[in-house]
Amino acid sequence: MQTEIVKIKNPDSPDENQLLFAAKTIRDGGLVVFPTETVYGLGADATNEVAVSHIYEAKGRPSDNPLIIHISIPEDAEEYAYTSDLYYRIADAFMPGPITVVLKSKQTVPKKTRGGLDTVAVRCPKSEIARELIRLSGTAIAAPSANLSGSPSPTVASHVIDDMTGRVDVIIDGGACDIGLESTIVKIEDEKNLTLLRPGKITLEELREIADVKLADAVTDKLRDGEKAISPGMKYKHYAPKAPLVLIDAPTEIDFVKYFSQNNKQKIAIIAYDEIIDELRLAVPKAAIYAFGSINDEISQAHRLFSILRDTDKKKFSLIYAPLPKTSGISLALYNRMIRAAAHNIIRL
Ligand code: TXA
Ligand code: MG
Repeated sequence: MQTEIVKIKNPDSPDENQLLFAAKTIRDGGLVVFPTETVYGLGADATNEVAVSHIYEAKGRPSDNPLIIHISIPEDAEEYAYTSDLYYRIADAFMPGPITVVLKSKQTVPKKTRGGLDTVAVRCPKSEIARELIRLSGTAIAAPSANLSGSPSPTVASHVIDDMTGRVDVIIDGGACDIGLESTIVKIEDEKNLTLLRPGKITLEELREIADVKLADAVTDKLRDGEKAISPGMKYKHYAPKAPLVLIDAPTEIDFVKYFSQNNKQKIAIIAYDEIIDELRLAVPKAAIYAFGSINDEISQAHRLFSILRDTDKKKFSLIYAPLPKTSGISLALYNRMIRAAAHNIIRL
């Protein structure tokens, strides 16, 4: 398949003419990779079952793992799902933005898009490119993250060019995604209760200002054998770099550095907070060190995580180490992604 790459000149205010071809491709049942404020998505017409089946093929994704449908204004959810007051309270607070809401589906959404479930995940992204593309397509766009199944989500165009060239019709290059981690996903249980299925930039604390929120066990824990995942995506290994990732739960930054001075191995990479990089370089001169951002700068850490993991794939490390994040604020999202990338491999000092 020939892949057309469209580089957007002004991502904050894209020229409609640059998106017309991609929108036509969606209407005609093709595949378009597009940027959002979270990560790049691999999109097709959410109402076209054949087009949606091509998404699963291009990604190598199991077909029981449902897709998020992307809309350009919150009210467009009416066409695809049964909404409620709570949906609109969430929309008023966070849309357009990095939040996905799971609602009871209407028949307009094919089963293929919802992985056979009777619910559908709806998201109104903030990215102007994404919203304009959806508007011009005249339909909801079903899109998972545009990585090959099992790789970190793509946050810059070069990641999707690496993964998707030859597999999709169009790649829209809109530069780096603002946030770099996928959207927060909540399921509406009833008018007062939400379940947080996947943490993201919109935090548990922020959601609790609007409703009672239960944290799905799989956000922080391993699924127990035989346990059914509420969100099918929870049961798959995710975001795995090629070299094993090990998380260090250190009481202090000094302990983190000390661990490496005592374990001076070959060919390792260390993802480290900016504050300790100089000391680490002295302690383990042979290690490759990746700057994760300042200790309390969760925004920078979120922005860098997937790029760093992809970068480590280009080198042949025997092991990658990183600090275990906290479980509050945006760090909960980092924690959730990193324990999965590490397959729960945690060293507690
Ligand atoms: O930020 C994002 O959400 C990005 C961009 C492209 O919008 N999309 C994304 O999609 O991360 P994906 O497919 O990589 O992750 C969506 C997750 C999966 O774990 C899936 O199982 C879950 O959402 N999901 C989708 N529909 C669901 C539903 N009806 N009920 C429960 N979980 C659902
Ligand atoms: Mg994904």
